[in-house]
Amino acid sequence: MQISQGFVEELKYRNRIDDVISSYVNLKRAGSNKVGLCPFHSEKTPSFTVFSNTETFKCFGCGAGGDVITFIMRAENLDYISALEFLAKKSGLEMPSDGDHKSEIVKRSRMHEMNREAARYFNKMLYEPCAEAARAYLAKRKLSGAAVKRFGMGFAPDNFNALRNYMNAKGYRDEELREAFLCGKSERTGKYFDYFRGRLIFPIIDNFGNVVGFGGRATDDETKPKYLNTSDTPVFKKSRNLFALNFARTACEEYLILCEGYMDVIAVNIAGFPNAVATLGTALTSEQARIMAKYTKKVIISYDSDEAGQAAAKRAIPLLEEAGLEVSVLKMRDAKDPDEYIKKFGAQKFRELLEGSRGKFDFLCDSVLKKHDIENPDEKVKAAHEICALIAEIYSSVERSVYIAKAAEKLSLEAKSLASDVERIRRRKQREESGEKMRKIISDTSGYGDRINREMVGNTKAARAEETILGIIMLKPELFEKVRSGEAPLTAEDFKTTFGRRIFEAMEKMQGKVDIGMLGAEFSVEEIARITDMQHRRAQLAKNDETVLYDSIASLKNEKHVADSGDELADAMKIIQSKKKTVK
Ligand code: UTP
Ligand code: MN
Repeated sequence: MQISQGFVEELKYRNRIDDVISSYVNLKRAGSNKVGLCPFHSEKTPSFTVFSNTETFKCFGCGAGGDVITFIMRAENLDYISALEFLAKKSGLEMPSDGDHKSEIVKRSRMHEMNREAARYFNKMLYEPCAEAARAYLAKRKLSGAAVKRFGMGFAPDNFNALRNYMNAKGYRDEELREAFLCGKSERTGKYFDYFRGRLIFPIIDNFGNVVGFGGRATDDETKPKYLNTSDTPVFKKSRNLFALNFARTACEEYLILCEGYMDVIAVNIAGFPNAVATLGTALTSEQARIMAKYTKKVIISYDSDEAGQAAAKRAIPLLEEAGLEVSVLKMRDAKDPDEYIKKFGAQKFRELLEGSRGKFDFLCDSVLKKHDIENPDEKVKAAHEICALIAEIYSSVERSVYIAKAAEKLSLEAKSLASDVERIRRRKQREESGEKMRKIISDTSGYGDRINREMVGNTKAARAEETILGIIMLKPELFEKVRSGEAPLTAEDFKTTFGRRIFEAMEKMQGKVDIGMLGAEFSVEEIARITDMQHRRAQLAKNDETVLYDSIASLKNEKHVADSGDELADAMKIIQSKKKTVK
């Protein structure tokens, strides 16, 4: 996928990084840079910095970094080409019509059209005789024509070739259908067949109104699996989409209701709460949490009241908090899920339930109390320990004392003794954390545990030299041609780590001017953050001239490559041992 550098330059010129980021982050001037609260992790003091001179950003808290394109990839959860399209649209620029990426764009929009056509077909089938059981099922679940229409529901006939024949006649090839997960292909016979058969269909619609995937529910409770979902396709990533976000995103100023599945979202939605979403057949991901944080400040988890649902709620809490969201959890009695609750007690009662939802602490505390019989002294001690550990996690000391009082009441224990336990746990944690920090310093200097450049271990000297060289070149692109010519030119082969070599090779492909904006197709956002870092670190140093550059080249050429072998751990331990002495 090659896109012209001229286009990327024009795009970046029209989308100045401060302007673009300003619509996501409240930026304040700090010297020649601007700072704000990082949109990619939760923080109270700003460590997110935008550097106007290099047109890059970096968060000193979570390590995110890159240029305006990387920013959009992260903030909008888009891949490289989609991020380019996004910025092009925003600034009234046409995507270039030459180059390989063209076929990528054409393919995507064709897949969107294909999905829309399939959704239309499924919807039409819902009114055919073959869908009688499905219609009966809808009636049983009290889903009216209006609900069907609002969610564009449909029915996939119980036939191996119904959709396939229809789509073939519309000009869509089997292989395209398979790529979109509308068809499967038998390994044994090589035959294509409809993926969804005899199922109620829920189209999944993204924020741009495109049909990107489908969920299909069996029309009875016996068929297994109950639900089938579209797997990842070129236009759909389960982990980055939420069901019904297309409705919820404009109705969630106050909060989002996070449900377990399609049926709950639909029931909640038609009961008058358009601010409900669900994940798509998987557990909540941090990407989904970040997406929610873009639209709202608070999430009310409304999972099933059974054990599985409550366990899933527990796992979702830290992900949502990490994204900066306030979290509370619905306490539902006498109904297994929001759908059933609304049917039994009505929308008004559900609203009261939402208003009375417990904060995270109460929820976690309740789940500890449910586990232990506090009439039994041993169990009571265990419960107290667990609750103290929960309270110890709370940052604000005012909040801690409020919860200590609450817990003391629930356990009928003295607040004073709980408080001293909480403090003990906090002190132990602080000690552990400082040990953790020390280990991190050691592993950073040795390169052990470096996830981005795994060959750093054993090659630290070479890797450092590589970072210096690449950093200076990014800062002073005019030196690039110079080091590649002359008596002992720098070549890709000189690089000892694959990561360094890949960056150098990417630079070679650029038209004389090194630009981070060109890296998105070949490097992950984490890798781009590291590359941006190389530039920043050099920018902060006083000396970045040719002498430093040539010294590093000489030092790199003299270094031997340590193969990335099974001895990695042993190497790392040796380095850590030797560093320990110097750090302490
Ligand atoms: P549930 O089984 O709780 O579904 O699974 P539900 O929505 O309450 O189903 P109804 O009310 O019986 O129709 C919750 C979610 O888990 C996923 C689906 O996304 C579902 O909405 N799931 C469940 C699957 O992906 N596959 C399955 O087989 C079951
Ligand atoms: Mn359910």
